[in-house]
Amino acid sequence: MCGIIGILGREPVAPAMIEALKRLEYRGYDSAGVATLENGHLTRRRAEGKLRKLEELLERKPLQGQIGIGHTRWATHGRPNETNAHPHATDRVAVVHNGIIENFNELRTELSGRGAKFTTETDTEVIAHLVTDLMNGGLGPIDAVRAALPRLKGAFALAFLFEGENDLLVGARRGSPLAIGHGDGEMMLGSDAIALAPLTSNISYLEDGDFAVLKRGGAQVYDANGNETKRPVLRSGAASFLVEKGNFRHFMAKEIHEQPEVVGHTLSAYIDFATERVQLPELPFDFAKLDRIAISACGTAYYAGLIGKYWFERFARLPVEVDIASELRYREAPFTPGNLAIFVSQSGETADTLATLRHAKEHGQHVLSIVNVATSTIARESELVMPTLAGPEIGVASTKAFTCQLAVLACLAIAAGRARGTLTEEDEGNLVRALIEVPRHMSEALALEPEIERLARDIAKNRDVLYLGRGTSYPLALEGALKLKEISYIHAEGYAGGELKHGPIALIDATIPVIVIAPYDRVFEKTVSNMQEVAAREGRIILITDPRGAREATIESVAILTLPDMPPSVTPLVYALPVQLLAYHTAVIMGTDVDQPRNLAKSVTVE
Ligand code: M6R
Repeated sequence: MCGIIGILGREPVAPAMIEALKRLEYRGYDSAGVATLENGHLTRRRAEGKLRKLEELLERKPLQGQIGIGHTRWATHGRPNETNAHPHATDRVAVVHNGIIENFNELRTELSGRGAKFTTETDTEVIAHLVTDLMNGGLGPIDAVRAALPRLKGAFALAFLFEGENDLLVGARRGSPLAIGHGDGEMMLGSDAIALAPLTSNISYLEDGDFAVLKRGGAQVYDANGNETKRPVLRSGAASFLVEKGNFRHFMAKEIHEQPEVVGHTLSAYIDFATERVQLPELPFDFAKLDRIAISACGTAYYAGLIGKYWFERFARLPVEVDIASELRYREAPFTPGNLAIFVSQSGETADTLATLRHAKEHGQHVLSIVNVATSTIARESELVMPTLAGPEIGVASTKAFTCQLAVLACLAIAAGRARGTLTEEDEGNLVRALIEVPRHMSEALALEPEIERLARDIAKNRDVLYLGRGTSYPLALEGALKLKEISYIHAEGYAGGELKHGPIALIDATIPVIVIAPYDRVFEKTVSNMQEVAAREGRIILITDPRGAREATIESVAILTLPDMPPSVTPLVYALPVQLLAYHTAVIMGTDVDQPRNLAKSVTVE
């Protein structure tokens, strides 16, 4: 889960590689490196930590090569230090890698036996030694890479640079994404079109198993069977400018505040505001004929899927199974051909979600994806894509992508209800009107920020926090706990209110804040009982509710955040905002790296 870049240019490429790596930092940021040919010789600069360390190093020790490869890393094998930073190299070849080589130990033993000297703890280094070994055996660079690839087990996107080869880059992909950029007398390789955007908007995407040979005059691509093939050159719409924070201190804050706008924008793509009806693209399946939907995703997107389940089941009376993608793929779930599998992903590159999508396809499922990055692999491999129009999400913690995913899922569930005859036209009108009001309620929720910031000061003093909710507020409790732990490093857990007495209540004492998400709905009374149980054990409650809930939650020592009244069908979209703000302000108070928290990456492209 790293970002890779390769440039065959006409002037020194190090500055352009740094620019591209900045755009790839969402894939990892624990170390970075570049290699160029200086007078024909492979020369590397690598640095532990954020990209600015590499930039500083290059200022002190610049590189002049007009061909180069670069990498930003999220460590899988080996600590995040300079030695393990890519590119990995021998005296003949340098390589950057995104993915995991599963049989690296076996290859390492074999190559060590033939005299290769390993200096890192990484899996990637075997690739450099394997290609070198084949070159030492008499193969040219291209044939050596071609012969090495079948020996690698696992996932990879690779870019190779060779000693003395000033007009040659080789790329290959299996599992991890890789694109070719076509410039004017210049060629590039990159993990995505966004990285290549400042250099070119002419992009072709390699397919799984492809192998590409790049020279300044163009690229030759070979498919998994070794046959020369053409991959279409598309005009990429990826922005050529870097997204800025504006007046906000962090991208996460900016993205939280963008939600009224981007959710409104997303809703307008799927709702006809004049007729107050959901309007979807043509569907390649009929909701009325489905007997089940499977939703798969990871992390925050998985929690969006869980909320979607409540909606599909209530509006369309359609059974839904929601799985963490890495589980569905391996648990041998039976599929009935012709059913629908929905995949939810901000990046559209999450390895587990992508692999599960392919698995579902193999089992005859219709594949619909809800993605934010329209050019992503998941989008390209889906039968139908329903984009979220959140715009680029830079903060590692997903915020606006989540609420936009909810907006799309809500529209889909309403369309399913209409198609199955479980919603009348009047029901649909009511649900759609409620959705149309969401951006306004979101703005009202954002106005609570000063109050939320005060509450965060208390949260920041604790080591553990519990989130409770029932109904659609339960997945939101899970999301709240994920948000808090990933950016503040405070341990947090989300539970269904009814589960409290089945174990977690043992944790409750005066030191544990319990955040209860409870709009006044049909399960509110039940949640009040759970709050009583917490209060009886001196737990400190923060209740997120509406005016009626605030009146009726007659419990002492409760801090209450009061959101506007709204229909229960849309509460998850709006209640998400105070939950995100609470995590954000807690993290700011804790002084963590909010946008790039430790050990994480925005796009998780390894299993
Ligand atoms: O790009 P995806 O939506 O597929 O990513 C899935 C998760 O990795 C992601 O939601 C992750 O959990 C976020 N960091 C949570 O804020």
